[in-house]
Amino acid sequence: MKAPKTYFVCTECGAHSPKWLGKCPHCGRWNTLAEEVAEPEEEASSTRRTSLAGLSGDSHATAYTELSMPTYMRSETGLSELDRVLGDGLVTGSVVLLAGEPGIGKSTLLMQISDCLGQSRKVLYVSGEESGGQLKLRAKRLGVSGEHLYILTETNLEHILAETDQVKPDVMILDSIQTIYSDRINSAPGSVTQVRECALTFINKAKAEGISMLLVGHVNKEGGIAGPKVLEHMVDAVLYFEGERQQAYRVIRAVKNRYGSTNEIGVFEMTDKGLAEVANPSEMLMAGRPRNVSGNCALCTIEGTRPLIAEIQALVTPTVFPSPRRTSNGVDYNRVYLILAVLEKRLGLKFYQNDVYLNVIGGLSIDEPAADLAIAASLISSLTDRVVPDDLIVMGELGLAGEVRSISNLEQRVREAARLGFTKAIVPFRNAEKRPLSVEGMKIIPVKSVYEILQELREQV
Ligand code: TYD
Ligand code: MG
Repeated sequence: MKAPKTYFVCTECGAHSPKWLGKCPHCGRWNTLAEEVAEPEEEASSTRRTSLAGLSGDSHATAYTELSMPTYMRSETGLSELDRVLGDGLVTGSVVLLAGEPGIGKSTLLMQISDCLGQSRKVLYVSGEESGGQLKLRAKRLGVSGEHLYILTETNLEHILAETDQVKPDVMILDSIQTIYSDRINSAPGSVTQVRECALTFINKAKAEGISMLLVGHVNKEGGIAGPKVLEHMVDAVLYFEGERQQAYRVIRAVKNRYGSTNEIGVFEMTDKGLAEVANPSEMLMAGRPRNVSGNCALCTIEGTRPLIAEIQALVTPTVFPSPRRTSNGVDYNRVYLILAVLEKRLGLKFYQNDVYLNVIGGLSIDEPAADLAIAASLISSLTDRVVPDDLIVMGELGLAGEVRSISNLEQRVREAARLGFTKAIVPFRNAEKRPLSVEGMKIIPVKSVYEILQELREQV
């Protein structure tokens, strides 16, 4: 008998390779290629045909002018933080992928929203991970009434589809897509082929029957199971549920949304009664802030439409290694390397003799260049052991020549800082020059270069 043909698939991006490689040639990640059994030719083509049903065959080109504007029906989820991230609620017939590490709270969140959604619509919760009893126990703890809520504990795709046709839900929750498998496909549950084909079947069903679907996707750092990246291009919205499992704060971030803006975040706190919304995240992040410690610097970042006060902490210590350590949590380490290089070159500071550890408090991650100056200030503060005053907020982008570049939404940021009791703000000179800024109770300090920041920090203490 001929041995079945196999090939290798990247569990992160889904790229194929005929042989095993340590690094995926497509996305560049290490150790993500997993072996899969190839489908026999005729089976593979019939799978494709059925899974693409409804999208192929009878479509015709339409003149743009004759297209009608769609009207999206949206349902509130009961959590306004989540509604905002989704773009004002869950759209009928849309498919949302909720991705996050195991134990972060995905099932908890979905059980909570199924209660509110269930008040006006029929919800089917398909769980491939927990038994009905376990789900009920959790639902009780969360205070879920369970009205119009149906539970199905099943992992077989064909079975789930048959049950769906019976129940006819308006909203369907699939927890998780990686546990669901189809009999028609040879590879193991959780493999790229299974995850992709099952998801495609559900997406087609959602579109054809107007069911809103929420798919849970586990993120696995070891790459043992297919990651949500494989599904991102197929679904309407991708939400990442982030946070440190040990900490109570959780952030939901939209990285793709066909029905709303991306970069919007929702902030939650994990309590003993499930996830609670945090309407005022800046206050939460500033609570318990260490006072009078070197290496700390506050900034205001814009997340979606909201300004958010965050704090950078840097620890600079003499190194014992031939090449010093650089670790960063919550900010891109390439950005940190760049800022360190600018500080060394333009200010002559000796970071190369030191290890550098950088952290954003509250498990937040910031990917805005406007955070550059606060990162620089916290690094300088830790290196020189001079405290950045607690009532000073620092914002601006740093250029390679050491110049401070302008940032967006400065006034909104400064106002948020003033609201939280900050009284001084270091801001880019270019912003202040273009549009003079005056915010009550706030002293504005415009700076042109990184050298001026050093001066200001010296004067402030
Ligand atoms: P869960 O929703 O099961 O995570 P996921 O589905 O993303 O794997 O959440 C699990 C964690 O949440 C678990 O460690 C316990 C915690 N938790 C609470 O703190 N309070 C609660 O009310 C619930 C239901 C869970
Ligand atoms: Mg779960």
